[in-house]
Amino acid sequence: MIRKYVFGEPFDTEAVVSEIPAETGNLPDGYFEETETEDGHAFSCDLGEKDRLYGLGENVRGINKRGWIYEANCMDDPGHTESKRSLYGAHNFLIVDGKQRFGIFVDAAQKVTFDCGYTKRDKLTVTVSEGGFVLYLLEAQSLRELVREFRSMIGRSYIPPKWAFGYGQSRWGYKCADDIRRVVKEHREKRIPLDAVYMDIDYMERFKDFTVHKERFPDFPAFAEEMKAQHIHLVPIIDAGVKIEEGYPVYEEGVRNGYFCQNEDGTYFVAGVWPGRVHFPDVLNPEARRWFGNWYRVLVEAGIEGFWNDMNEPAIFYSEEYVKKILEKHMPYQTDDEDTQMRKLFELKDLALGLANRRADYRLFYHQCRGQRVRHDRVHNLYGYNMTRAAGEAFERISPDKRILLFSRSSYVGMHRYGGIWMGDNSSWWSHILLNLQMLPSLNMCGFLYTGADLGGFGDDTTEDLMLRWLELGIFTPLMRNHSAIGTREQEFYRFENTDAFRRVIGLRYALLPYLYSEFMKAALTDDLMFMPLAFVYPEDAFAPQAEDQLMVGSGLMIAPVYRQNADGRYVYLPEEMKLYRMRGRDSFETEVLPAGHHYVKAALDEVLVFLRPDHLVPLSDGGCFTDEVDASHLRLLHYIKTSASYELYDDDGLSRDVALAGHLTTITADADGNIRTSGASAPECELI
Ligand code: GLC
Repeated sequence: MIRKYVFGEPFDTEAVVSEIPAETGNLPDGYFEETETEDGHAFSCDLGEKDRLYGLGENVRGINKRGWIYEANCMDDPGHTESKRSLYGAHNFLIVDGKQRFGIFVDAAQKVTFDCGYTKRDKLTVTVSEGGFVLYLLEAQSLRELVREFRSMIGRSYIPPKWAFGYGQSRWGYKCADDIRRVVKEHREKRIPLDAVYMDIDYMERFKDFTVHKERFPDFPAFAEEMKAQHIHLVPIIDAGVKIEEGYPVYEEGVRNGYFCQNEDGTYFVAGVWPGRVHFPDVLNPEARRWFGNWYRVLVEAGIEGFWNDMNEPAIFYSEEYVKKILEKHMPYQTDDEDTQMRKLFELKDLALGLANRRADYRLFYHQCRGQRVRHDRVHNLYGYNMTRAAGEAFERISPDKRILLFSRSSYVGMHRYGGIWMGDNSSWWSHILLNLQMLPSLNMCGFLYTGADLGGFGDDTTEDLMLRWLELGIFTPLMRNHSAIGTREQEFYRFENTDAFRRVIGLRYALLPYLYSEFMKAALTDDLMFMPLAFVYPEDAFAPQAEDQLMVGSGLMIAPVYRQNADGRYVYLPEEMKLYRMRGRDSFETEVLPAGHHYVKAALDEVLVFLRPDHLVPLSDGGCFTDEVDASHLRLLHYIKTSASYELYDDDGLSRDVALAGHLTTITADADGNIRTSGASAPECELI
């Protein structure tokens, strides 16, 4: 059951697609106590001693969000530490599970604070800053049902092409065609599977969107063709800020048509980001959004089939207005008095450090939307969403039949219909493997299925063991991309001594592709989760909610990756008897049946722990060096059969936008005597292994 309450005059975020009539009157008794506070409209409810909180999408800390205070306030912040209250996205869906079970979706374009038992352990308080908002209250029989209910009201999640489930190599630092050729050559020669190479900002001319650097890529369409012939898809980055430069058509058209965000006085707002001085396209204005989206056509026509949208919180390194103010006030800091000089210098240092992403800067500019002028801070959390929507909507026009890969850094619920997200600028820290794992189910709850983290870590220097352990989680995530920052240790797999281990582990991903794609598609088409906390599958199990470092992946699997350096294994909790496949690759594994309960399970550096539920099958392909090579007509089945096991395999051409379960499902059944039957869309040849 879903109930909708409207407070004040909310800005329509267009997150919700189903028609839900608004209730009149107050919130039902027993849910929330409402108060007006200095920070905005607040509503609180009591939490039982053991209540758990789930959701909030992309955020720091555990799967159970209780005990911290989170903010929906999209931020470009590369320090993903426990102390943070918000990252790049605003995903305002939260579930309370325990004494009572319900979900809330706070549909608000502005800042929202979720005090999840932080100020008082037994209280949840949600505070919505100035402005109207809509509150949805959801109830259902189970946690999974609650998610399905929410997901059905926000619309179907984005579905990428199948090749986007292949491995992608990225690094901020690849500059020219030859850099990319080298990366491809190394992977192909060493038989490390690869489907995509990402192009970070250096492919552009002076960081100008929709341009390609002419000297670095002399014939770009021919280069894209050359890559395609090797089954490699190029995926360029697009940044939110448009460089201010005379003669640059994107800039000139935007200025001429009033498509950029404006200051109060009607001049265009100027921020500093990678290209230097930029204007922000007013993607909340439908006309400007259409215009910005159309520009992607330039690259699509050059042969590009995928994009990542970045810096779209939007990130502001500095605003011109604030820099002017600082310089006026502090520039003549040289005086004869050394103490004053020192004090001035420190002041200047603090000012410089505080230049980026200032709350006050987000109050300086305006959007033109539905005949209204709206100050940016009131709709801040919708910017990345609408930049990505600009692209997503354009792709429906430019490429009506074929899917295009699209993911974003910043997002809001609703954007999940247009693209996925990556988890932003993480670090090469062991704790970030765990953070990666914990974000997966929380994001799935909020509709974001196509997601993954920068494997190996973006910031700081990685190590070979960190890279490999992280990959052992990454082979299960839909977006599987190795990305790192300029100046950090190079982390392509072929840089490391034990290339063979990387080859085998990533080979396992390609073998698992039929299962992972099938589980992703079924989740997308039935509003379900692909990654589930154990408590969602074993609601009666008292320990399941404690298992914060294990996940169910689809219907049959549980994963428990190792995320500590020098560990030779880890503690794993089994809610029921399961069969462990300890896998060193597609063909090398041993199995063991483990009873329900706690175990210390050994896992050497190159071993992936895969746990199968009783009476379940997981199909494996023979792998390949790229996704097109993966053949789903011969499947080897991981199995744990007590009486009879079956699997519903979804498959399609991986490209067409026209997707449905009907006509694409194959049922594979195996009994305890080893008899296998298949029926449905395809007739793969199957064997038990
Ligand atoms: C941002 C992105 C990162 C990218 C860098 C340069 O920090 O999050 O992925 O490499 O900008 O474009």
